[in-house]
Amino acid sequence: MARATRTQSRPRNAAAAAPRRYEHEQDAVARPEIGAAPRFKAKAPPVSYRYDSSLSPALDWDTNPARETAAFLLRCIEDAAALPAPHEFPEPRELKGADGAALLRIGGLQDAVATLKRMQAPFLDWAGKAERQSFEVPTLPLFVHERLSTAAIIKTLEDHRKRPDQNEMFDLFSDPQMPLSKQVDAYHHRNKWVNRLILGDSLVVMNSLLRFEGLGGQVQMIYIDPPYGVKFGSNFQPFVRKRDVSPNDDEDMTREPEMVQAYRDTWQLGLHSYLNYLRDRLLVARDLLTQSGSVFVQISDENLHHVRELMDEAFGSANFVSVISFVKTSGLNSPDARLSKVATNNDFLVWYARDIQRIKFRQVFRPKVAGLDDLGTFNWVEMPDGTRRALTPEERNGTATMPLGRLFARADLTAQRPTTVFDFRHEGKVYNPLPRGWRTTQQGMEKVVAARRVFIAENSLRFIQYLDDFPVAPHGAFWDDTGTGSFTDDKIYVVQTPVKAVQRCVLMATDPGDLILDPTCGSGTTAFVAENWGRRWISIDTSRVPLALTRQRILSATFSWYKLRDEAGGPASGFIYARRQNRKGEQVGGVVPHVTLKSIANSEPPGEEVLVDRPETDDAVTRISGPFVIEATLPTPQPIADDTASSTPQDEPSDHIARMIEVLRRSPTIALPGNRKVTLKSIRRPGRSLSLSAEAQVDLDASGNTVPLAAALDAAHEKNTGGLPFSARSVAILFGPADGPVTTKAVLDAAKEANVKGYSHLYAIGFAITAEARTELDAGEDVLGLPATFVAATMDLQMGDLLKNQRSSQIFSVCGAPDVAVVRLDEPADDGTPRWQVTLRGLDVFDPITMQTHHAAGDDVPCWMLDTAYNGLVFHADQVFFPKTSAWESLRKALRATHDDTVWQHLAGDTSAPFVAPIGTDIAVKVIDERGNELPVIRRLGA
Ligand SMILES: C[S@@+](CC[C@H](N)C(=O)[O-])C[C@H]1O[C@@H](n2cnc3c(N)ncnc32)[C@H](O)[C@@H]1O
Repeated sequence: MARATRTQSRPRNAAAAAPRRYEHEQDAVARPEIGAAPRFKAKAPPVSYRYDSSLSPALDWDTNPARETAAFLLRCIEDAAALPAPHEFPEPRELKGADGAALLRIGGLQDAVATLKRMQAPFLDWAGKAERQSFEVPTLPLFVHERLSTAAIIKTLEDHRKRPDQNEMFDLFSDPQMPLSKQVDAYHHRNKWVNRLILGDSLVVMNSLLRFEGLGGQVQMIYIDPPYGVKFGSNFQPFVRKRDVSPNDDEDMTREPEMVQAYRDTWQLGLHSYLNYLRDRLLVARDLLTQSGSVFVQISDENLHHVRELMDEAFGSANFVSVISFVKTSGLNSPDARLSKVATNNDFLVWYARDIQRIKFRQVFRPKVAGLDDLGTFNWVEMPDGTRRALTPEERNGTATMPLGRLFARADLTAQRPTTVFDFRHEGKVYNPLPRGWRTTQQGMEKVVAARRVFIAENSLRFIQYLDDFPVAPHGAFWDDTGTGSFTDDKIYVVQTPVKAVQRCVLMATDPGDLILDPTCGSGTTAFVAENWGRRWISIDTSRVPLALTRQRILSATFSWYKLRDEAGGPASGFIYARRQNRKGEQVGGVVPHVTLKSIANSEPPGEEVLVDRPETDDAVTRISGPFVIEATLPTPQPIADDTASSTPQDEPSDHIARMIEVLRRSPTIALPGNRKVTLKSIRRPGRSLSLSAEAQVDLDASGNTVPLAAALDAAHEKNTGGLPFSARSVAILFGPADGPVTTKAVLDAAKEANVKGYSHLYAIGFAITAEARTELDAGEDVLGLPATFVAATMDLQMGDLLKNQRSSQIFSVCGAPDVAVVRLDEPADDGTPRWQVTLRGLDVFDPITMQTHHAAGDDVPCWMLDTAYNGLVFHADQVFFPKTSAWESLRKALRATHDDTVWQHLAGDTSAPFVAPIGTDIAVKVIDERGNELPVIRRLGA
């Protein structure tokens, strides 16, 4: 029975207690941290997943790929029929695939017949389905990029004068501090469980969970909220702080490589591709589920029928549990927009079990209210003086006030079958139940009378069933109380699911401590609900914007403290439920009585029912989220961080470089701030190059801005070459990898070669860049010996024909680097160690025409984070800022008794709280821009 989320997430009396969080006692396979990526060599071959084959309804034997399977089964049937009953083979027979692996195992006659029958069931067909008997998924490791912990943030804000105890900080992040030597074979070790937010395609990530981590059979529940259809704009939100998406506006289209790739790969054939997309994911998801597990797919009426068919195929029709219709929005969809006459405000949850016989199911109840629905039966009242009367029509339809008293229904005292038949005398009249029978014995009837539970109807006796005998009723498959639009769900994502809908699924299908997976994270509703209810979670999204939203949602959330049965055992030990009544005598605890005719007739204590959504709470505790990590898939051969990585262009497949050169030739304009641009021409591969990808001539700004450019480049060239004769406008180009960032090694190698060859400028062009590489590039001449610029390649070039207008001027652009000021404060810490403060002044954008740096407003970023002791392996978010927002407000209010208000002000601004660190410590700042991009920078304190 769901209560208002506000009550759940904001304890009423958050007194002076320190914030607490649940600790999960389970462990998990370790994953390497991103800083260890260059040394991480483990590889695994791609995995091929094969569908269960089905016979075409047309029984087209010659072309149907299932023919071979059917022929094998018929042979099995013939052979097994010749064996004595029960017609079992001594050893199961196997149908083998081309690679020798067993595709099918048949134990005997019954097995073969059942399999053949299954193949004959009608099924949904679509273009390409028959040809696609299997699909391959690359097996990639996952790297930990960020460690996040609300407790660590609160800790760093607490005492500005003390040097933090690093071990305590690592504990707050649940960082196992794996040395590099262990990280290189991370998957062979186990660490304490932390919840996980993973960037990547759901198929690749789920396959990694299965193959690299062996997580098969360990997920209790999977919640999938896929794009509802194939319309691009309606499925994704490209900006962190802009919820409106207009499907026809190119500006609104996301430019992230993974997203665009996913989109292009996924929807080429419209609905046909969509069905492939979903079927593949369902098949892999199934392997992750425990035997008692459940999967829920959220879908609209547009494709509900297809999803049901797909799930029949993936999970077996016998494992169907329910289709739940739930109210999604408070308002109705406009019928015009749907070209339909009937407006809707509901979506559906299609629920299947991994194995219906073993499904974990916890009944979830709603309160029986003296409202319209339950008054259909509970339409009599017993007044405080013991008199009984029927409710008046006005009382029943709500136009008159309900009388003070106990509502009751006049339930049956007889049962269908005449098994217990006797004459029963009551108040001078004899009653006989025939042709039915009594529901209890003679003695039982007497006890029911003694309890004043018998009601005399005209010619029969009825049982008085009070509403409060069992004050709740099970939820059915229609949920009309889940709509958003009230204060309970602040909508941050365009396609956000109401909390209540996900919560009910979680409560029905899992217990505290169970693992929940959402391969379509979005704004993180499933993660948020799982965190609230003490479940472990993994959420996956292919886009950075949802990840940014989820990071903020989880970090800044507060929850009720549900009392644990055994604190040392963590949530897996279960919550405590108790029976409690309020002053009005209403049941308000998590255990409610269930008084029945049977319990009265047998003088038994009444039964009890547990309301899983009403655990006992400790209102003095403010609960915050546990630690979580952000991970991502990055292909192993691609260098991720730095130093030892060998990311010279020679390592890149030459077709990637050839393609980039081609794209640059077609779109040779680089956008600069202030609507200006620089154009490259004569782009080509340099002769005998070791580290450079291309060279080009710089052409002039269309506005005629020739002098500063030529002069600046000439000056740079002269300085670099000592006046050697060379075309001042020849520039060197380094392309980053197709699916990884530009690295320091690549930059240093390219700069070395560019200097030797006398180029006047180095352009590093890529989809992303490591913090270290960005630092080197921004230092330009001082470090590299020549001016250098990072040029961000936006994803338009991968979008191709998807965009209505190919706007070449926006394909490459010079984007900002965080402009960070580090100030050493006058007063050191108590032990004499210096204290520091960091200000994000903004984003610096280098202009290669004027050689000047432009400053973009910095207090307007959606989020920035600070790691005050960057260890080169992973980013620990010690302080996380959401400038000019009230993101931390709920936590601030909850902790006002223990934490001074001023500490929170930092987290809504552009200046960090002071922190203590020795000179020489590396700190890292990460800015999240409007599109969810991460712009990192590293500084050495006192350098
Ligand atoms: C309908 S939204 C989910 C919304 C979510 N239930 C919530 O409450 O915010 C679908 C999400 O799936 C993500 N997505 C789409 N295709 C994906 C894929 N192949 N792998 C991972 N995520 C994907 C999209 O980026 C989008 O955020």
